[in-house]
Amino acid sequence: MPPKQTRRNYRGRAIDVSYDVRRCIHASECVRGLPQSFNRQHVPWIEPDNSKPADVAEVAMRCPSGALRFERKDAGLPEPIPRTNTITLVQDGPLYVRGEVKIISPQGQVQHHDTRLSLCRCGNSNNKPFCDNSHIASAFKSGKSKVGGRGEVGMGDALQITPIENGPYQLLGNVEVIDAEQRVVFRGKMIRLCRCGGSNEMPFCDNSHLHNGFEAKSW
Ligand code: SF4
Ligand code: FES
Repeated sequence: MPPKQTRRNYRGRAIDVSYDVRRCIHASECVRGLPQSFNRQHVPWIEPDNSKPADVAEVAMRCPSGALRFERKDAGLPEPIPRTNTITLVQDGPLYVRGEVKIISPQGQVQHHDTRLSLCRCGNSNNKPFCDNSHIASAFKSGKSKVGGRGEVGMGDALQITPIENGPYQLLGNVEVIDAEQRVVFRGKMIRLCRCGGSNEMPFCDNSHLHNGFEAKSW
């Protein structure tokens, strides 16, 4: 079952913003970056017309979870697709994915297409494959990242991510994985990343999911 649609639109004269509460992990980039347009104390909490459209777009693009999206209605540019696909490992937290990213079912169907995603890797999210901040309540510890292969990557290709049932994320396509210390721990085209939270080789899958009772649907 795909996650249910919970995205709401906030219309402005020159830019529309949409927000998906189930994707928001309260990273607060929006409220810190542009409080006159993103204000949790106000109803509606998003007011695109209170700022310049370019500023609204710039702050929306900082949102690591993809909860915020925008659509320009003036001559402004749409969100650019990063030429390099990257995954940033949040210490004790999720995977921040940026690039042209497709979530694929094991049958090969594209279930979700995005430029910004925050993916669960503690194994406890109730909105899998997306992070819902369950890593905080479960006191998830990701430990220090291991270093994997560092091959060549091209640019401009989509990154395909398949959440394997009861198992890891299977990635196919150019990707760079960067840890919290800004080290590149993997660069290449094919990799399996842990999403059960139990690997001893984080961020990589070491098949611990076969023994720790991890259960998760693919999509
Ligand atoms: S930046 Fe995105 S994830 Fe963070 S609080 Fe705003 S909408 Fe939520
Ligand atoms: S998914 Fe965690 S070890 Fe395989």
